[in-house]
Amino acid sequence: MAKGVKLFLQAVGVLAAAAVITWAVIAAGGTTGGGGRRPSGGAAAAYNGKAVYRQYCAACHGVQGQGYAADAAPALNASNPDLRAAYDQQSLAAFVQVNMPANQPGSLNYGQAKAVAGYVWNTLGAGGHGR
Ligand code: HEC
Repeated sequence: MAKGVKLFLQAVGVLAAAAVITWAVIAAGGTTGGGGRRPSGGAAAAYNGKAVYRQYCAACHGVQGQGYAADAAPALNASNPDLRAAYDQQSLAAFVQVNMPANQPGSLNYGQAKAVAGYVWNTLGAGGHGR
């Protein structure tokens, strides 16, 4: 009996600790704010894919995503079927976040990568439509 009570109290203690940890995680998440940390749609909305592209990609891949032979940067528009064979919009964002810009890989946050992938895929036409 006494042993049962002790076990019960231990279980309560574990639950209480878990509740504190959960609370701490929620509190921390609530204060870190947007940035590129949250893989939700909200982060991407903060960035303009066209602006990100012009600033970080166009110099190598061309303003229209036509590519640039001199530095071997491939086309990022409908003229490049290899791209849409290898990626979808989401995996393109993941690739870009890790590997591009080639001269500074990993410098874009998730929101920027997601926004620029949307621009490349839909507006420049890498997804197979558009120009
Ligand atoms: C300094 C030049 C440079 C910049 C800036 C740059 N790229 Fe690239 N990119 C390259 C080169 C070179 C390749 C081909 C070699 C490679 O895949 O690493 C490439 C490849 C790619 C590919 C094709 C990957 C594949 O598997 O076929 C994608 C998609 C891409 N870049 C997207 C972007 C985006 C989006 C940006 C802007 C955030 C960007 N790049 C900025 C030079 C650049």
